[in-house]
This record gives sequence, structure tokens and C-alpha cells, in this order.
Amino acid sequence: MAKENFFESAYSLKSAEETREMYDRWSQVYDQDLSKGEYQQPVRCAEALHAQVQNKALNILDVGCGTGLSGLALKELGYQHIDGCDLSEGMLDKADNLNIYKRLFSCNLNAPPIDAKSNHYDAVTAVGVFSFGHIMPQAVDELLRVVKPKGTIIIGLNDHFYNEGSLTKKLNILETSKEIVIINQEHGEHIPENNLMGWVITLKKS
Ligand SMILES: C[S@@+](CC[C@H](N)C(=O)[O-])C[C@H]1O[C@@H](n2cnc3c(N)ncnc32)[C@H](O)[C@@H]1O
Repeated sequence: MAKENFFESAYSLKSAEETREMYDRWSQVYDQDLSKGEYQQPVRCAEALHAQVQNKALNILDVGCGTGLSGLALKELGYQHIDGCDLSEGMLDKADNLNIYKRLFSCNLNAPPIDAKSNHYDAVTAVGVFSFGHIMPQAVDELLRVVKPKGTIIIGLNDHFYNEGSLTKKLNILETSKEIVIINQEHGEHIPENNLMGWVITLKKS
């Protein structure tokens, strides 16, 4: 059987069920596929958080944590208290093997609420999860629910979804209504091997 090209499959997802099943399959080779492409977003997002808050006792939720590459980048900068949540049990199982997350749980960010208290986290990271057939921009409301007032949210996404425009539209609405302040938006490498660039967006809840 031909090897599935997961980078292509990730663009044709039509439902939460399809997304979950695809990531359950991809979980077996995800780290291998991404390390070949030298996936840059986890490190870029961890550094963006570090630029805002250096306190390593920060309580962080890594939304759509996948196999844990995004959590690992946070851990490598010294952050100690990281929870993770994801739609795919296959991905969560791999993340669990890393032993870096304090708590891992299933979630569907497109069908809130997730299993987390309001105003609980100092920071939320969402790395490579806002995308076609993945987490939709409306889910920023749920990220804002679980993060504390003045808490930090870091979103890393590729050019394709950034240029589609719905996420920036959502963020601009939230900024206009003074629910958030957009601190920084930085363009840079996403997956260099695939010639894919992306954005890291830093915002704070008001
Ligand atoms: C490209 S991976 C990124 C994983 C990790 N953050 C990283 O940077 O390697 C996207 C992740 O988003 C998760 N995901 C997709 N849709 C989701 C949803 N509606 N709710 C929660 N997680 C979702 C997938 O299961 C997958 O693990």
C-alpha cells in the first residue's frame, strides 16, 4: 500500500471525525515526518512566550498539543507546568510517553467547553492547530475563557491559513471590542523543507 502523504491529507479534512482519524494514523510517524522538514513553529512559539514571561512556574495549556513537539520546546526553555489537550487519542498517547505534561486530556476546541476551568492558565499556546479542517477561529473565545486576565496566548500557524483571513478577522474584532491586545505578529519559517512559512501571533487577554 502506498504511504499516505499526511501533509496533503491535512488539507482535505471535512469533519472532526476525519481529523481525529487522520491524526490517529499520523501519530505513528508524525515526529519523523516533522523532524525531516525541520518544523520551526514549536521553538518560535516557545521563544515568543519567553519574550513575554520568563517566570518558569507559569501554568501553561498547550492546546492541540499533538505528540508533544510544542510542549517539548516549552520544556526546553525551562517551563515546568504544562498541560496539553488534543482531539486525537493517538497523538495524546505519544505526548504522554514524553512525560513532560502534568495533565493531558481529550478536547474538541470546535465544540466547547473543554475540560478546563475558567481564568485558570497564565498562558495558552496553540501551535499548528488553527488551520483548514482543524481548530476554527471561533475557538479563540474558548482560549480566552481558560486563560487568566492579562494572560498570554501564543498562536503559531502557517501562511495558508493566515492568508485565508478568518483568524486575523476574529482577532481584529476581539481587539476592537478591547477583549484582547495583539502584542506582536512575526513572520518566519514554519516547515522550511516544505517551503512553508508561517506566523507567530502573541496576544494578551484584557
Ligand atoms: C499539526 S498538529 C500540531 C501538534 C503540535 N501542536 C505540534 O506543533 O506539533 C495539529 C493538532 O491539532 C489537533 N486538532 C485538530 N483539530 C482539533 C480540534 N478541533 N480540537 C483539538 N485539537 C485538534 C490534531 O489532533 C493535531 O494533534
